[in-house]
Amino acid sequence: MTQTPTTAQKATLTVGDQTIELPVITGTENERGVDISSLRKETGLVTVDPGYVNTGSTLSSITFIDGEKGILRYRGYPIEQLAEHSNFVETSYLLIHGELPTSEQYERFRQRLRMHSMIHEDMKHFYDGFPSSAHPMAILSAMVCSLSTYYPEAMESEEEVDLLVCRLLSKVRTIAGYSYKKSVGQPFVYPNNSLSYCANFLYMMFGLPTESYEPDPEVEKALNLLLILHADHEQNCSTSTVRMVGSSQTNLFACISAGICALWGALHGGANQRVLEQLQYIDESGGDVEKFVAAVKDKTSDQRLMGFGHRVYRNHDPRAKIIKDACHRLLNHLGVTDSYLDIAMRLEEVALNDEYFVERKLYPNVDFYSGIMYRAMGIPTNMFTVMFALGRLPGWIAHWLEMRDDSQNRIHRPRQIYTGEQLRNYPT
Ligand code: SDX
Repeated sequence: MTQTPTTAQKATLTVGDQTIELPVITGTENERGVDISSLRKETGLVTVDPGYVNTGSTLSSITFIDGEKGILRYRGYPIEQLAEHSNFVETSYLLIHGELPTSEQYERFRQRLRMHSMIHEDMKHFYDGFPSSAHPMAILSAMVCSLSTYYPEAMESEEEVDLLVCRLLSKVRTIAGYSYKKSVGQPFVYPNNSLSYCANFLYMMFGLPTESYEPDPEVEKALNLLLILHADHEQNCSTSTVRMVGSSQTNLFACISAGICALWGALHGGANQRVLEQLQYIDESGGDVEKFVAAVKDKTSDQRLMGFGHRVYRNHDPRAKIIKDACHRLLNHLGVTDSYLDIAMRLEEVALNDEYFVERKLYPNVDFYSGIMYRAMGIPTNMFTVMFALGRLPGWIAHWLEMRDDSQNRIHRPRQIYTGEQLRNYPT
């Protein structure tokens, strides 16, 4: 149950000879924000905040993060508890509907996801147009937006919304699996609806028409965990993109397609691919971690330690610790050793004891160890960000629905301060 924020406190703003009072909004976890919605009308002023470092774009009841304490909760449930006890389908339901499902609700949700795993046969031909080297995020974004051509119906009733949400959650696995098959020149593997959400994805990725394929239950469990950990993260870049695009009242598929593109960036979800590439670089150049860290600290280089740092977490990203432990468990189960894991652990050790990272409060984030797990599962590096998107989809959907159902929501249209040429006439 969401609660109305309080506005008991006031902020006073004085500019020149004008002083105004602005309400201070206090949320259920005592976060406070100055409500400036009347600022321009009362003063003619706007605020300027590049990167929205200090700007709250909305009120939301979906996810809470305390960056100083390393706390992450979905609908009030600690990420550590969901990681231990839940699965991705249940967590998706929680994020989208706001409560954990009853057994009947869970079964109905699960069945709907199973029923809608196929994509229209005509959509398979879209893959013929992509080069085999096409980045799977480009394919995912294009195919998700294209789903709107097959499901153009309105999204008014709760039933229509639920059906469309289930179609999207289920079909993205198939789209991702097909893009992998395309890249390796193997035939597409249709979904097997007798399998669970994650097992079905692994089946479409690694199954072959020529032999039977049984997903490893431990790999399925590890994939469930990774998708839960990626499922939402309040107003991150891609989620804010989904909300921004959704505010113009375009369809859900178009909004998610835009979110996929935002997530693709190296500073956001694309970081998990770059972490692996960075570990590979260190490995292939002799494994000198100290030398790499020195290059990162050298301000003349634009080298960053990918998978480190976070806009919100000024302490450990709780997801990174969970993934690090799960990484060891998975590699032990699979009986594999990975030099990249050793390098990653040494990198973490060196960085966490280096003043450059300590004073900037840079810690491993969700992307630092996740790629090593995907690699152990046999998922190619260029699909790591697709895995992030599969996980983040229920979060994007939950925020899109929250934005759409918010009677206060208006089209997102930030202002600016113009710094260009003043009036001048066209030369006659
Ligand atoms: C995700 O927002 C979310 O919630 C995102 C996410 C989610 O679940 O949706 O958590 C997922 O995107 C995780 C982040 C993945 N990205 C990376 O791992 C890329 C590497 N990290 C960074 O580029 C950076 O830390 C960001 C993008 C994550 C945060 O950037 P900020 O908040 O804009 O910080 P900044 O760039 O202003 O850096 C502050 C200082 C700078 O040094 P000074 O100018 O003060 O000397 O810290 C330095 C930066 O140079 N710095 C780094 C660094 N990250 C910040 N230096 C080296 N390596 C890094 N990784």
